[in-house]
Formats: sequence, C-alpha cells, structure tokens
Amino acid sequence: MSVFQSRRAQFLAQMDDNSLAVFPAGSEKIRSNDTEYPFRQNSDFYYLTGFNEPDACLLLINKKGNQQALLFNRKKDKSAEIWHGYRLGQSAAVSELGFDAAYQIEELQKHLPQLLDGLSTLYFPIFQDPALDKMLSNVINELRAGRRKGQTTPSRYIDNLSILHEMRLIKSEEEIVLLSEAAEISAAGHIRAMQECHAGMWEYQLQAELEHEFAQQGARHTAYNSIVAGGENGCILHYTENRGKLRDGDLVLIDAGAEYQGYAGDISRTFPVNGVFSAAQAKLYQLVLDTQISAISQVKPGVALIDINKNAIKQLVDGLLELGILQGEREQLIKDEAYKDFYMHGIGHYLGLDVHDVGDSGTPEHPRLLQAGMVVTIEPGLYISASANVEDRWKKIGIRIEDDVLVTEFGAEVLSADVPKSINEIEALMRSSR
Ligand code: GLY
Ligand code: MN
Ligand code: MN
Repeated sequence: MSVFQSRRAQFLAQMDDNSLAVFPAGSEKIRSNDTEYPFRQNSDFYYLTGFNEPDACLLLINKKGNQQALLFNRKKDKSAEIWHGYRLGQSAAVSELGFDAAYQIEELQKHLPQLLDGLSTLYFPIFQDPALDKMLSNVINELRAGRRKGQTTPSRYIDNLSILHEMRLIKSEEEIVLLSEAAEISAAGHIRAMQECHAGMWEYQLQAELEHEFAQQGARHTAYNSIVAGGENGCILHYTENRGKLRDGDLVLIDAGAEYQGYAGDISRTFPVNGVFSAAQAKLYQLVLDTQISAISQVKPGVALIDINKNAIKQLVDGLLELGILQGEREQLIKDEAYKDFYMHGIGHYLGLDVHDVGDSGTPEHPRLLQAGMVVTIEPGLYISASANVEDRWKKIGIRIEDDVLVTEFGAEVLSADVPKSINEIEALMRSSR
C-alpha cells in the first residue's frame, strides 16, 4: 500500500459509521489577465492523495463497514494537454494512485446526492472554500427536497480537518526524510547567500543567490516568500519587498526556506553585509543566539512551546537590561510586556507541508505539549528600529535566528544545523569566500 493509501485508510478508520468525507484539491489562481501563479496543491488533499493536479476532489466513504476512496479529476483532453500539459485522467488514477474508482470532476455534483443518501455524517472543510460550501448546500437541499421519495440527509456535519490535522501534526518517517531534505537544501541556500553577499548588492540579488541554490538542489519553489532585509528593513517581520540596497556596516536578515516535495524548510540567519559584526551588532546577536540555543535545548516531549517562549523572554530581558536597552526590574518589565518593543512574535510554530503547519496548539492556559514526531521552528529575535528610544548604536538592527527542529523521543534534532550561526563561524565562512 502506498503512503497515501495508508493515510486514507487511517482517516477512514476514524470516520463515523455511514459517513462521507470531502477533500477538495487546489485550483489555479490568476496572476494577471490570462497568466496564472505557479500551481500549488492544497496540502490536505496532497497529504491523502499525492496527486498534484488542480480541479479534483477526493471522497472517502465509510458505508456499512465498506470503505471506498473515490477521486474526481479532470478528464483526458488532447487539445488541453497539447496546450497546457499532461493530465492523469481517470483510468490511470485508479491504476497508479490506488483509488477504488475515478470519475470526471464535472460529475461530482451529480454523484454526490446518491452517495450521500442514507448516510448520517458528512465531513468537509467547513467555511473554507465558498464554492465547495455552495455545492454541498445545493446537494443537501436536493436531498431534502427528495424527502417524500424516501431520501435522507446527513444529520451531522463535522470539520474533517480536526481528524486530518492531528494526523499531519505527527510526522512519519517518510515525512521526516522530506523535511530533513527541505532543511538541508534551505541551509545550502543560506550558505551561498553568506558567501555571495557584499556591500552595494540589492536585496533581490542576494535573494536570487539563495533561490538559485534551492532550484539547483531540486527545490523548484520557496516554501514562502523569501525575506532578505538589510539594516532597518530587518525590523519589518514579514518584509518581502527585497528591493533595498545592502550597505556596508549593516546586518542582513534572511528568512527563507525551500519547499521540497511539498515540505517546507524555514530558516533565518542574520549576518553582517561586510562579513564582520560591529561591537554593538555582536552584543545583540550573541544575546539572540544564546537565547535560541537554550530554547532548542528545552525542546523535548512533554514541554510546551509557550513555556520555552517564557524562558526566552526572561533571557532576552536579562540581556537587554545588561546592555542598558531596557531599564527597570525584570519581573515588572515582563509583566508590562516592555520586551514587546523589541521581541514581538512567538518562539516558533509547527512545520510540515505548510510553513505554518496545521495542528492544535491548545490555548495559553492549556497549551499542547510537544510530542515525538512533531517538527517545530525555534526562532527568537530582537528588532530595534530607528525610532526606538535607545542609544543610536543599537538602532536599525533586526536579528532573527531560526532553525527547524524535530522532536524526538528523548529530546530534539536540529534539521537545519548545516548553516553556521556562531559569530566566529559566520565571519570565517564569509572571509573564506571573499
Ligand atoms: N518565515 C515565516 C516564519 O518564520 O514564521
Ligand atoms: Mn522563517
Ligand atoms: Mn518560522
């Protein structure tokens, strides 16, 4: 059984008796006039099918103990395939991807009332896809109208993502291999960026260096829009304009990851444009690095990310007090959230098919604890903008250091360890490539 078939079986095993689950594929999105963005499959659909074409839908049916996986997808079309590319079609979907049957996507609405008649539960991604919501509401109303003919409608509607995202949260061996590869390719891109960086370059030119390496290593897409932020731009958390000049004496913050076979890398590194940290940059950098290393050392089953963040906040506040950037008393500063002027995001997030991957994180009062098989990022930072009320030497410095970390049975494994992050290692790498 393929990985995808066994995931479908795992989902089916958790479905109610007499139920049906709907998983829509992604669709192509127009970028301008008649050109599209590169197609990216819906992650939930991909996780269960491994099928990478748009305009498709997976149905999982559990009826009287009989389980079926049906695919609805685009039909073979000679002309469309000459113009736009190969389509798998229905018969190969059955023979190659292991579905019980496949039908043309146009037939979905016609088949659904019959398939749903007599079932008690419908699973679908509720309120996420207006076209799907509308289609299902038409189907359900058609069944309601047939009540006098003996047709019945489901009485329970469940968001299928509650089951699926729990599955996606704990990574299998195969997924860990792909996430490791995504992290290694991402790391190679960051190393190339450190080697190629010099004053006077445009941020987008440095972006091109790192994305060149991603593609050379088999990652055709980035997992998210790359952030290449020189100087003050590093204080904009999701800066993606990347059209500033990289200046001698500034730091550059790169937050970028390759997507490899659907899986995301997500690495941040911050380094001096000219290859040598100034004294002020080095002080702040070392504080973020020490915080990141101690946060990673706390990653293990049974610990909550939110508690790792609380410790990171303490460490950052102590460091900022020592440098004179914050003044006052540690506990009070934390209570007043004074650190949020300089550290305003969380410590990390789940990583998988999506860069901010799915899965329940609990609530601040009852946080989800880490478990073996989860993959998370650990990414503390400090951002001191030009308008901050601090000495000039600390200004226009944005630093984030981010690694991808697998939670193992006894602790953690850093998947993105190939990119240097100590001051000495970074300076040595940059020196050797000048
Ligand atoms: N690159 C987005 C993030 O680090 O969360
Ligand atoms: Mn990132
Ligand atoms: Mn991240």
